[in-house]
Amino acid sequence: STENFLDGSDISDSSESSDISDSSDVLTPAFHNTPDTDPDLPANCAWGREILLRARTSKLGEETVRSHLVDTPSALDIVMDAATSANDAWRELSGAERAAVLRRVGRELAQRRGELLEVMASEAGKTLEQGDPEVSEAIDFANYYAQLAEELDDVTGARFVPSRITVVTPPWNFPVAIPGGSTLAALAAGSSVILKPAGPALRCGAILAEAIWAAFDAHGISRDVLQFVKLSEHALGTQLISHPLTDRVILTGGYETAELFRSFRTDLPLLAETSGKNAIIVTPSADLDLAVKDVVNSAFGHAGQKCSAASLVILVGSVATSKRFHRQLVDAVHSLKVGYSTSPETQMGPVIEVPGQKLRRGLTELGPGENWVLQPRQLDDSEKLWSPGVRAGVKRGSEYHLTEYFGPVLGVMTASTLEEAVEMVNEIDYGLTSGLHSLHPDEIEHWLEHIEAGNLYVNRGITGAIVQRQPFGGWKKSAIGAGTKAGGPNYLLGLGDWEDAPLDF
Ligand code: ALA
Repeated sequence: STENFLDGSDISDSSESSDISDSSDVLTPAFHNTPDTDPDLPANCAWGREILLRARTSKLGEETVRSHLVDTPSALDIVMDAATSANDAWRELSGAERAAVLRRVGRELAQRRGELLEVMASEAGKTLEQGDPEVSEAIDFANYYAQLAEELDDVTGARFVPSRITVVTPPWNFPVAIPGGSTLAALAAGSSVILKPAGPALRCGAILAEAIWAAFDAHGISRDVLQFVKLSEHALGTQLISHPLTDRVILTGGYETAELFRSFRTDLPLLAETSGKNAIIVTPSADLDLAVKDVVNSAFGHAGQKCSAASLVILVGSVATSKRFHRQLVDAVHSLKVGYSTSPETQMGPVIEVPGQKLRRGLTELGPGENWVLQPRQLDDSEKLWSPGVRAGVKRGSEYHLTEYFGPVLGVMTASTLEEAVEMVNEIDYGLTSGLHSLHPDEIEHWLEHIEAGNLYVNRGITGAIVQRQPFGGWKKSAIGAGTKAGGPNYLLGLGDWEDAPLDF
Protein backbone atom coordinates (compact mmCIF):
# COMPACT_ATOMS: atom_id res chain seq x y z
CA SER A 1 0.00 0.00 0.00
CA THR A 2 1.12 3.56 -0.54
CA GLU A 3 0.06 6.73 1.14
CA ASN A 4 0.01 10.13 -0.44
CA PHE A 5 0.90 13.50 0.90
CA LEU A 6 -1.72 16.13 0.29
CA ASP A 7 0.02 17.27 -2.86
CA GLY A 8 -0.36 13.77 -4.28
CA SER A 9 3.29 12.78 -4.12
CA ASP A 10 3.96 9.23 -3.09
CA ILE A 11 5.30 9.10 0.44
CA SER A 12 7.59 6.20 -0.45
CA ASP A 13 9.54 8.56 -2.75
CA SER A 14 10.89 10.37 0.28
CA SER A 15 11.69 7.21 2.21
CA GLU A 16 15.04 5.42 2.12
CA SER A 17 13.29 2.10 1.92
CA SER A 18 11.26 1.14 -1.11
CA ASP A 19 8.96 -0.98 1.08
CA ILE A 20 7.20 1.63 3.16
CA SER A 21 5.64 -0.93 5.45
CA ASP A 22 9.15 -1.57 6.82
CA SER A 23 9.78 2.08 7.49
CA SER A 24 9.33 3.24 11.05
CA ASP A 25 8.36 6.77 10.03
CA VAL A 26 5.41 5.92 7.83
CA LEU A 27 2.67 8.48 8.41
CA THR A 28 -0.33 6.75 9.91
CA PRO A 29 -3.33 9.04 9.91
CA ALA A 30 -4.84 9.37 13.36
CA PHE A 31 -8.27 9.02 11.84
CA HIS A 32 -9.77 8.30 8.44
CA ASN A 33 -12.47 10.73 7.35
CA THR A 34 -15.28 9.29 5.28
CA PRO A 35 -15.19 10.43 1.65
CA ASP A 36 -18.17 12.20 0.12
CA THR A 37 -19.95 10.81 -2.91
CA ASP A 38 -18.21 11.76 -6.16
CA PRO A 39 -20.98 13.57 -8.06
CA ASP A 40 -19.14 13.34 -11.38
CA LEU A 41 -19.31 9.55 -11.63
CA PRO A 42 -22.22 8.77 -13.97
CA ALA A 43 -23.59 6.09 -11.61
CA ASN A 44 -23.65 8.56 -8.71
CA CYS A 45 -25.25 11.19 -10.88
CA ALA A 46 -28.11 8.80 -11.77
CA TRP A 47 -28.40 7.72 -8.13
CA GLY A 48 -28.66 11.37 -7.07
CA ARG A 49 -31.41 12.09 -9.57
CA GLU A 50 -33.45 9.16 -8.28
CA ILE A 51 -33.04 10.41 -4.73
CA LEU A 52 -34.33 13.84 -5.71
CA LEU A 53 -37.29 12.32 -7.56
CA ARG A 54 -38.22 10.32 -4.47
CA ALA A 55 -37.70 13.38 -2.26
CA ARG A 56 -40.60 15.17 -3.99
CA THR A 57 -43.12 12.82 -2.38
CA SER A 58 -41.03 11.36 0.42
CA LYS A 59 -42.68 10.15 3.58
CA LEU A 60 -39.54 8.69 5.13
CA GLY A 61 -39.46 8.94 8.89
CA GLU A 62 -43.12 9.95 9.26
CA GLU A 63 -44.11 6.79 11.10
CA THR A 64 -41.30 7.17 13.66
CA VAL A 65 -42.21 10.81 14.24
CA ARG A 66 -45.87 9.91 14.75
CA SER A 67 -45.17 7.09 17.13
CA HIS A 68 -42.86 9.19 19.33
CA LEU A 69 -45.22 12.05 19.99
CA VAL A 70 -44.98 13.27 23.57
CA ASP A 71 -48.03 15.34 24.34
CA THR A 72 -48.43 15.41 28.12
CA PRO A 73 -46.14 15.97 31.11
CA SER A 74 -46.74 12.39 32.25
CA ALA A 75 -45.75 11.03 28.81
CA LEU A 76 -42.50 12.98 29.18
CA ASP A 77 -41.94 11.49 32.64
CA ILE A 78 -42.32 8.00 31.17
CA VAL A 79 -39.65 8.78 28.55
CA MET A 80 -37.28 10.18 31.19
CA ASP A 81 -37.77 7.18 33.47
CA ALA A 82 -37.16 4.70 30.66
CA ALA A 83 -33.95 6.46 29.60
CA THR A 84 -32.75 6.56 33.21
CA SER A 85 -33.35 2.85 33.83
CA ALA A 86 -31.72 1.86 30.55
CA ASN A 87 -28.65 3.88 31.45
CA ASP A 88 -27.63 1.49 34.24
CA ALA A 89 -26.40 -1.10 31.76
CA TRP A 90 -25.13 1.37 29.12
CA ARG A 91 -22.86 3.33 31.47
CA GLU A 92 -21.42 0.08 32.86
CA LEU A 93 -20.09 -0.99 29.46
CA SER A 94 -16.45 -0.29 28.78
CA GLY A 95 -15.58 2.49 26.36
CA ALA A 96 -14.45 -0.19 23.90
CA GLU A 97 -17.85 -1.89 24.06
CA ARG A 98 -19.69 1.37 23.43
CA ALA A 99 -17.22 2.10 20.63
CA ALA A 100 -18.26 -1.09 18.85
CA VAL A 101 -21.88 0.08 18.92
CA LEU A 102 -20.93 3.51 17.60
CA ARG A 103 -18.93 2.04 14.74
CA ARG A 104 -22.00 -0.02 13.86
CA VAL A 105 -23.98 3.26 13.81
CA GLY A 106 -21.40 4.59 11.36
CA ARG A 107 -22.02 1.64 9.05
CA GLU A 108 -25.81 2.01 9.38
CA LEU A 109 -25.55 5.68 8.42
CA ALA A 110 -23.36 4.82 5.45
CA GLN A 111 -25.95 2.29 4.27
CA ARG A 112 -28.71 4.88 4.70
CA ARG A 113 -26.87 7.72 2.91
CA GLY A 114 -29.51 7.74 0.16
CA GLU A 115 -32.38 7.81 2.64
CA LEU A 116 -30.74 10.60 4.61
CA LEU A 117 -30.19 12.66 1.46
CA GLU A 118 -33.79 12.05 0.41
CA VAL A 119 -35.26 13.21 3.68
CA MET A 120 -32.89 16.20 3.92
CA ALA A 121 -33.93 17.38 0.45
CA SER A 122 -37.58 16.68 1.11
CA GLU A 123 -37.90 18.21 4.54
CA ALA A 124 -35.02 20.58 5.21
CA GLY A 125 -34.30 22.17 1.80
CA LYS A 126 -30.83 20.65 1.46
CA THR A 127 -29.38 20.18 -1.99
CA LEU A 128 -27.44 16.96 -2.57
CA GLU A 129 -24.26 18.99 -2.76
CA GLN A 130 -24.86 20.38 0.74
CA GLY A 131 -26.37 17.23 2.22
CA ASP A 132 -23.81 14.66 1.11
CA PRO A 133 -20.88 16.02 3.19
CA GLU A 134 -23.25 16.18 6.12
CA VAL A 135 -23.81 12.42 5.98
CA SER A 136 -20.04 11.91 5.80
CA GLU A 137 -19.66 14.15 8.84
CA ALA A 138 -22.22 12.16 10.82
CA ILE A 139 -20.38 8.92 9.98
CA ASP A 140 -17.11 10.59 11.02
CA PHE A 141 -18.67 11.59 14.34
CA ALA A 142 -19.68 7.96 14.98
CA ASN A 143 -16.20 6.64 14.23
CA TYR A 144 -14.30 9.45 15.93
CA TYR A 145 -16.30 9.43 19.15
CA ALA A 146 -15.91 5.64 19.16
CA GLN A 147 -12.16 6.22 19.20
CA LEU A 148 -12.51 8.72 22.06
CA ALA A 149 -14.71 6.28 24.03
CA GLU A 150 -11.91 3.71 23.80
CA GLU A 151 -9.44 6.29 25.05
CA LEU A 152 -11.63 6.86 28.12
CA ASP A 153 -10.77 3.29 29.16
CA ASP A 154 -7.10 4.27 29.34
CA VAL A 155 -7.54 7.20 31.73
CA THR A 156 -5.89 6.39 35.02
CA GLY A 157 -5.93 8.22 38.33
CA ALA A 158 -9.43 9.62 37.95
CA ARG A 159 -12.86 8.25 37.14
CA PHE A 160 -15.05 9.70 34.41
CA VAL A 161 -18.69 9.69 35.48
CA PRO A 162 -21.01 10.27 32.53
CA SER A 163 -24.19 12.28 32.85
CA ARG A 164 -27.10 9.90 33.19
CA ILE A 165 -29.40 11.79 30.82
CA THR A 166 -28.24 14.23 28.16
CA VAL A 167 -30.89 16.21 26.31
CA VAL A 168 -29.90 17.06 22.73
CA THR A 169 -31.65 20.01 21.05
CA PRO A 170 -30.16 20.47 17.59
CA PRO A 171 -31.00 22.97 14.84
CA TRP A 172 -32.68 22.28 11.49
CA ASN A 173 -29.86 23.60 9.30
CA PHE A 174 -27.57 20.57 9.71
CA PRO A 175 -30.39 18.14 10.45
CA VAL A 176 -28.22 15.00 10.38
CA ALA A 177 -24.66 15.98 11.30
CA ILE A 178 -25.45 18.14 14.33
CA PRO A 179 -28.04 15.93 16.05
CA GLY A 180 -25.86 12.98 15.04
CA GLY A 181 -22.66 14.44 16.48
CA SER A 182 -24.24 15.58 19.75
CA THR A 183 -26.17 12.34 20.29
CA LEU A 184 -23.24 10.09 19.44
CA ALA A 185 -20.86 12.03 21.67
CA ALA A 186 -23.21 11.70 24.65
CA LEU A 187 -23.76 8.00 23.92
CA ALA A 188 -20.01 7.44 23.59
CA ALA A 189 -19.49 9.07 26.98
CA GLY A 190 -21.98 6.62 28.53
CA SER A 191 -25.04 8.83 28.79
CA SER A 192 -28.61 8.09 27.73
CA VAL A 193 -29.96 10.65 25.27
CA ILE A 194 -33.24 12.42 24.77
CA LEU A 195 -33.12 13.67 21.19
CA LYS A 196 -35.57 16.45 20.48
CA PRO A 197 -35.09 17.36 16.82
CA ALA A 198 -35.85 20.83 15.52
CA GLY A 199 -39.43 21.29 14.31
CA PRO A 200 -38.58 21.69 10.60
CA ALA A 201 -36.32 18.60 10.61
CA LEU A 202 -38.24 15.95 12.55
CA ARG A 203 -38.05 13.26 9.86
CA CYS A 204 -34.29 13.75 9.43
CA GLY A 205 -33.92 13.16 13.18
CA ALA A 206 -36.14 10.10 12.93
CA ILE A 207 -33.95 8.41 10.28
CA LEU A 208 -30.91 9.15 12.40
CA ALA A 209 -32.60 7.61 15.45
CA GLU A 210 -33.60 4.55 13.41
CA ALA A 211 -29.95 4.03 12.41
CA ILE A 212 -28.85 4.22 16.04
CA TRP A 213 -31.60 1.84 17.19
CA ALA A 214 -30.58 -0.64 14.48
CA ALA A 215 -27.05 -0.64 15.91
CA PHE A 216 -28.46 -1.09 19.42
CA ASP A 217 -30.50 -4.08 18.20
CA ALA A 218 -27.43 -5.66 16.65
CA HIS A 219 -25.55 -5.40 19.98
CA GLY A 220 -28.43 -6.29 22.29
CA ILE A 221 -28.64 -2.77 23.76
CA SER A 222 -31.99 -1.47 24.98
CA ARG A 223 -33.54 1.02 22.56
CA ASP A 224 -34.52 3.07 25.61
CA VAL A 225 -30.95 4.41 25.82
CA LEU A 226 -31.94 6.76 22.98
CA GLN A 227 -35.32 8.43 23.25
CA PHE A 228 -36.52 10.29 20.17
CA VAL A 229 -39.25 12.77 21.09
CA LYS A 230 -41.54 15.02 19.16
CA LEU A 231 -43.00 17.44 21.68
CA SER A 232 -46.51 18.63 20.92
CA GLU A 233 -46.10 22.05 22.52
CA HIS A 234 -43.52 24.57 23.73
CA ALA A 235 -44.39 24.11 27.38
CA LEU A 236 -43.15 20.54 27.20
CA GLY A 237 -39.80 21.83 25.93
CA THR A 238 -39.48 23.99 29.03
CA GLN A 239 -40.36 20.97 31.11
CA LEU A 240 -37.78 18.80 29.34
CA ILE A 241 -34.95 21.27 29.96
CA SER A 242 -35.88 21.82 33.60
CA HIS A 243 -36.79 18.19 34.31
CA PRO A 244 -35.11 16.87 37.48
CA LEU A 245 -33.75 13.88 35.54
CA THR A 246 -32.05 16.08 32.90
CA ASP A 247 -28.36 16.14 33.80
CA ARG A 248 -26.97 18.02 30.83
CA VAL A 249 -28.14 19.75 27.67
CA ILE A 250 -26.32 20.03 24.35
CA LEU A 251 -27.82 22.88 22.39
CA THR A 252 -26.92 24.12 18.95
CA GLY A 253 -29.03 27.16 18.19
CA GLY A 254 -29.41 30.88 18.70
CA TYR A 255 -27.80 32.75 21.58
CA GLU A 256 -31.26 33.77 22.80
CA THR A 257 -32.29 30.11 23.05
CA ALA A 258 -29.28 29.39 25.24
CA GLU A 259 -30.23 32.33 27.47
CA LEU A 260 -33.78 31.02 27.64
CA PHE A 261 -32.59 27.56 28.67
CA ARG A 262 -30.48 29.09 31.42
CA SER A 263 -33.46 31.08 32.64
CA PHE A 264 -35.35 27.80 33.12
CA ARG A 265 -32.61 26.43 35.34
CA THR A 266 -29.59 28.49 36.29
CA ASP A 267 -27.48 25.52 37.44
CA LEU A 268 -28.06 23.64 34.17
CA PRO A 269 -24.87 22.10 32.71
CA LEU A 270 -25.26 23.49 29.23
CA LEU A 271 -22.98 22.95 26.28
CA ALA A 272 -24.17 25.39 23.65
CA GLU A 273 -22.86 26.34 20.25
CA THR A 274 -24.76 29.48 19.40
CA SER A 275 -24.91 32.31 16.89
CA GLY A 276 -22.27 33.68 14.56
CA LYS A 277 -21.68 36.81 12.50
CA ASN A 278 -18.73 35.76 10.47
CA ALA A 279 -16.47 37.71 8.15
CA ILE A 280 -13.88 36.99 5.50
CA ILE A 281 -11.12 39.58 5.11
CA VAL A 282 -9.54 39.92 1.66
CA THR A 283 -6.23 41.76 1.37
CA PRO A 284 -4.48 43.01 -1.80
CA SER A 285 -2.01 40.10 -1.62
CA ALA A 286 -4.81 37.53 -1.94
CA ASP A 287 -5.52 35.23 -4.86
CA LEU A 288 -8.64 37.19 -5.75
CA ASP A 289 -10.18 34.48 -7.95
CA LEU A 290 -9.98 32.02 -5.09
CA ALA A 291 -11.34 34.65 -2.67
CA VAL A 292 -14.43 35.20 -4.83
CA LYS A 293 -15.16 31.47 -4.97
CA ASP A 294 -14.72 30.99 -1.22
CA VAL A 295 -16.74 34.07 -0.27
CA VAL A 296 -19.64 33.03 -2.50
CA ASN A 297 -19.69 29.43 -1.23
CA SER A 298 -19.38 30.50 2.39
CA ALA A 299 -22.06 33.16 2.12
CA PHE A 300 -24.68 31.39 0.02
CA GLY A 301 -24.24 27.64 0.66
CA HIS A 302 -27.56 26.39 2.07
CA ALA A 303 -28.90 29.93 1.43
CA GLY A 304 -26.61 31.35 4.12
CA GLN A 305 -28.41 29.42 6.85
CA LYS A 306 -25.32 28.18 8.65
CA CYS A 307 -23.97 29.47 11.94
CA SER A 308 -20.59 29.25 10.19
CA ALA A 309 -21.66 31.21 7.07
CA ALA A 310 -19.88 34.34 5.85
CA SER A 311 -22.20 37.27 6.33
CA LEU A 312 -19.55 39.94 5.76
CA VAL A 313 -16.64 40.37 3.41
CA ILE A 314 -14.15 43.07 4.40
CA LEU A 315 -12.08 44.40 1.52
CA VAL A 316 -8.72 45.88 2.45
CA GLY A 317 -6.91 48.70 0.63
CA SER A 318 -6.86 48.37 -3.15
CA VAL A 319 -9.28 45.41 -3.13
CA ALA A 320 -11.96 47.84 -1.98
CA THR A 321 -11.65 49.77 -5.22
CA SER A 322 -10.83 46.86 -7.52
CA LYS A 323 -13.45 46.91 -10.30
CA ARG A 324 -12.37 43.44 -11.37
CA PHE A 325 -12.97 41.95 -7.93
CA HIS A 326 -16.38 43.59 -7.62
CA ARG A 327 -17.43 42.47 -11.09
CA GLN A 328 -16.36 38.89 -10.42
CA LEU A 329 -18.10 38.77 -7.05
CA VAL A 330 -21.35 40.17 -8.37
CA ASP A 331 -21.32 37.94 -11.45
CA ALA A 332 -20.66 34.85 -9.35
CA VAL A 333 -23.50 35.63 -6.93
CA HIS A 334 -25.87 36.63 -9.70
CA SER A 335 -25.25 33.40 -11.61
CA LEU A 336 -26.19 31.09 -8.70
CA LYS A 337 -29.15 28.95 -9.75
CA VAL A 338 -31.84 29.39 -7.14
CA GLY A 339 -34.61 26.82 -6.83
CA TYR A 340 -36.08 24.04 -4.79
CA SER A 341 -33.58 21.52 -3.56
CA THR A 342 -35.40 18.63 -5.24
CA SER A 343 -34.28 19.99 -8.65
CA PRO A 344 -30.87 18.68 -9.67
CA GLU A 345 -29.75 22.01 -11.15
CA THR A 346 -30.40 24.01 -7.98
CA GLN A 347 -27.30 25.56 -6.44
CA MET A 348 -29.03 27.63 -3.76
CA GLY A 349 -32.21 26.35 -2.16
CA PRO A 350 -34.98 28.07 -0.22
CA VAL A 351 -34.87 29.45 3.30
CA ILE A 352 -36.41 27.01 5.73
CA GLU A 353 -39.49 29.04 6.56
CA VAL A 354 -41.14 32.32 5.66
CA PRO A 355 -38.59 34.90 6.89
CA GLY A 356 -39.31 36.33 10.30
CA GLN A 357 -39.00 40.03 11.04
CA LYS A 358 -35.24 40.08 11.43
CA LEU A 359 -34.33 38.16 8.29
CA ARG A 360 -36.93 40.09 6.30
CA ARG A 361 -35.24 43.30 7.39
CA GLY A 362 -31.89 41.87 6.32
CA LEU A 363 -33.32 40.98 2.91
CA THR A 364 -35.25 44.17 2.26
CA GLU A 365 -33.97 47.14 4.25
CA LEU A 366 -30.77 49.14 3.95
CA GLY A 367 -28.94 50.96 6.71
CA PRO A 368 -27.56 54.52 6.35
CA GLY A 369 -24.99 54.74 3.54
CA GLU A 370 -25.68 51.21 2.26
CA ASN A 371 -26.74 50.31 -1.26
CA TRP A 372 -27.83 47.10 -2.96
CA VAL A 373 -25.30 45.75 -5.40
CA LEU A 374 -27.71 42.86 -5.84
CA GLN A 375 -31.09 43.26 -4.24
CA PRO A 376 -32.69 40.03 -2.94
CA ARG A 377 -35.94 39.28 -4.72
CA GLN A 378 -38.73 37.03 -3.59
CA LEU A 379 -39.05 34.50 -6.43
CA ASP A 380 -42.42 32.90 -5.76
CA ASP A 381 -45.47 33.06 -3.55
CA SER A 382 -44.05 30.68 -0.98
CA GLU A 383 -41.93 33.58 0.39
CA LYS A 384 -39.15 31.03 0.93
CA LEU A 385 -37.33 31.36 -2.36
CA TRP A 386 -35.10 34.45 -2.47
CA SER A 387 -32.41 35.46 -4.91
CA PRO A 388 -29.07 36.12 -3.16
CA GLY A 389 -28.34 39.67 -2.07
CA VAL A 390 -25.18 41.75 -1.77
CA ARG A 391 -25.20 45.07 0.05
CA ALA A 392 -22.27 47.47 -0.08
CA GLY A 393 -21.36 50.41 2.10
CA VAL A 394 -21.96 48.60 5.40
CA LYS A 395 -20.74 50.95 8.13
CA ARG A 396 -18.77 50.09 11.20
CA GLY A 397 -21.10 49.73 14.20
CA SER A 398 -24.23 49.55 12.02
CA GLU A 399 -27.00 47.03 12.57
CA TYR A 400 -25.90 44.94 9.59
CA HIS A 401 -22.29 44.88 10.80
CA LEU A 402 -23.23 43.40 14.18
CA THR A 403 -26.38 41.31 13.64
CA GLU A 404 -26.77 37.68 12.57
CA TYR A 405 -29.50 37.36 9.90
CA PHE A 406 -29.13 33.71 8.87
CA GLY A 407 -30.10 34.04 5.23
CA PRO A 408 -28.85 34.66 1.67
CA VAL A 409 -27.40 38.13 2.07
CA LEU A 410 -23.78 39.29 2.16
CA GLY A 411 -22.56 42.68 3.35
CA VAL A 412 -19.45 44.37 1.96
CA MET A 413 -17.29 46.55 4.21
CA THR A 414 -14.02 48.27 3.43
CA ALA A 415 -10.94 48.95 5.54
CA SER A 416 -7.72 50.86 4.90
CA THR A 417 -5.51 48.28 6.58
CA LEU A 418 -5.63 44.69 7.76
CA GLU A 419 -5.34 45.95 11.35
CA GLU A 420 -8.49 48.01 10.88
CA ALA A 421 -10.32 45.04 9.31
CA VAL A 422 -9.38 42.83 12.26
CA GLU A 423 -10.73 45.46 14.68
CA MET A 424 -13.98 45.52 12.71
CA VAL A 425 -14.34 41.76 13.10
CA ASN A 426 -13.46 41.84 16.78
CA GLU A 427 -16.13 44.47 17.50
CA ILE A 428 -18.75 41.81 16.83
CA ASP A 429 -20.06 40.09 19.96
CA TYR A 430 -19.88 36.66 18.36
CA GLY A 431 -16.76 34.73 17.43
CA LEU A 432 -17.54 31.51 15.60
CA THR A 433 -15.74 31.25 12.26
CA SER A 434 -13.48 33.76 10.54
CA GLY A 435 -11.60 33.84 7.26
CA LEU A 436 -8.59 35.54 5.75
CA HIS A 437 -7.59 35.60 2.11
CA SER A 438 -3.97 36.71 1.92
CA LEU A 439 -0.77 35.28 0.49
CA HIS A 440 1.46 37.39 2.72
CA PRO A 441 2.99 35.52 5.69
CA ASP A 442 3.15 38.64 7.89
CA GLU A 443 -0.52 39.36 7.28
CA ILE A 444 -1.47 35.77 8.05
CA GLU A 445 0.55 35.88 11.26
CA HIS A 446 -1.00 39.18 12.35
CA TRP A 447 -4.50 37.89 11.67
CA LEU A 448 -3.95 34.57 13.46
CA GLU A 449 -2.55 36.44 16.43
CA HIS A 450 -5.37 38.96 16.80
CA ILE A 451 -8.62 37.66 15.35
CA GLU A 452 -11.24 36.62 17.90
CA ALA A 453 -13.07 33.54 16.63
CA GLY A 454 -13.15 29.82 17.34
CA ASN A 455 -12.55 28.42 13.86
CA LEU A 456 -10.01 30.21 11.68
CA TYR A 457 -9.62 29.55 7.98
CA VAL A 458 -6.85 30.93 5.76
CA ASN A 459 -7.34 30.91 1.99
CA ARG A 460 -10.37 28.62 2.02
CA GLY A 461 -14.09 28.84 2.74
CA ILE A 462 -15.23 29.23 6.33
CA THR A 463 -17.93 26.56 6.48
CA GLY A 464 -17.66 22.78 6.50
CA ALA A 465 -15.35 21.93 9.39
CA ILE A 466 -14.10 18.36 9.21
CA VAL A 467 -14.21 15.98 12.16
CA GLN A 468 -10.84 15.50 13.90
CA ARG A 469 -9.01 17.76 11.41
CA GLN A 470 -10.94 20.93 12.25
CA PRO A 471 -12.76 20.58 15.57
CA PHE A 472 -15.65 23.04 15.59
CA GLY A 473 -16.61 25.59 18.23
CA GLY A 474 -16.67 29.28 18.91
CA TRP A 475 -15.92 31.76 21.62
CA LYS A 476 -17.37 35.05 22.92
CA LYS A 477 -21.17 34.88 22.45
CA SER A 478 -20.90 31.96 20.01
CA ALA A 479 -20.36 29.36 22.71
CA ILE A 480 -21.49 28.61 26.22
CA GLY A 481 -19.91 26.01 28.43
CA ALA A 482 -17.26 25.66 25.80
CA GLY A 483 -13.61 24.89 25.80
CA THR A 484 -14.29 21.58 24.15
CA LYS A 485 -14.92 21.63 20.42
CA ALA A 486 -17.23 19.23 18.60
CA GLY A 487 -15.24 16.68 16.60
CA GLY A 488 -12.15 17.36 18.71
CA PRO A 489 -10.18 15.28 21.20
CA ASN A 490 -11.71 16.72 24.39
CA TYR A 491 -15.37 16.78 23.48
CA LEU A 492 -16.43 13.69 25.45
CA LEU A 493 -14.71 14.98 28.56
CA GLY A 494 -17.23 17.81 28.78
CA LEU A 495 -20.11 15.35 28.94
CA GLY A 496 -19.64 14.03 32.43
CA ASP A 497 -17.86 14.75 35.68
CA TRP A 498 -14.55 13.58 37.04
CA GLU A 499 -14.14 11.84 40.35
CA ASP A 500 -10.86 10.92 41.88
CA ALA A 501 -10.37 7.20 41.76
CA PRO A 502 -10.69 5.54 45.17
CA LEU A 503 -7.29 4.85 46.67
CA ASP A 504 -6.29 1.28 46.18
CA PHE A 505 -4.95 -0.03 49.56
N1 ALA B 1 -19.84 22.49 11.50
C1 ALA B 1 -20.53 23.30 10.54
C2 ALA B 1 -19.57 24.02 9.66
O1 ALA B 1 -18.40 23.97 9.91
C3 ALA B 1 -21.47 24.22 11.19
O2 ALA B 1 -19.98 24.64 8.73
